[in-house]
Amino acid sequence: MSTVSKSASCLTVTTSSPEETMALGQEIGELVGPGDVVALFGSLGSGKTTLVKGIALGLGVDPKVVRSASFLLMQEYQGRIPIYHFDAYRLEGPQDMSRLGCDELFWGEGLSIVEWADRVEGSLPEEYVKISLSIVGATGRSPLQDKRRIEVSYLGERYGRVLKGLMARARGQELGSRE
Ligand SMILES: Nc1ncnc2c1ncn2[C@@H]1O[C@H](COP(=O)(O)OP(=O)(O)OP(=O)(O)O)[C@@H](O)[C@H]1O
Ligand SMILES: [Mg+2]
Repeated sequence: MSTVSKSASCLTVTTSSPEETMALGQEIGELVGPGDVVALFGSLGSGKTTLVKGIALGLGVDPKVVRSASFLLMQEYQGRIPIYHFDAYRLEGPQDMSRLGCDELFWGEGLSIVEWADRVEGSLPEEYVKISLSIVGATGRSPLQDKRRIEVSYLGERYGRVLKGLMARARGQELGSRE
């Protein structure tokens, strides 16, 4: 079961499986709207794409179509609103993001999600939902089995509603499980 801790401006969820990470993503997907931007920070294998699958599900997209975008740089999925899924891993910097059309898409009709946001921080808008993922619970096992700590915060008051909504849904330890 995922565990949750809250402060006024940050929600920290620790998940123990990809399914739990997807469940958090799904909640986020249900709360975002047109023109929103979600920036994902976190090292290799920390669960960024898994979270994107959950967000897609929350927007009515089959998570199977969401793949690691590394070779495609940007993928678009059509759900309740369009999703623009950027993967900045192979980008040199903000100028490459501009070439992908991020400047228009960030203000468009869809949700923009950026993996490896730290690589292109200069091209992010001033306001976005900031999600930092890290691998925790270090054991001798494969990192793929480890827990993930996922911190959700935001820059810009427009996103206060997303965090508030997540916190309301979290209700203690129950984030991800639905009655
Ligand atoms: N609690 C968890 N949350 C998310 N993924 C988990 C968890 N536990 C194990 N995993 C596994 O860790 C891997 C995470 O891969 P994923 O592609 O989502 O990470 P990523 O951060 O997008 O990687 P990359 O840096 O290559 O883009 C998957 O194989 C997933 O099944
Ligand atoms: Mg990825």
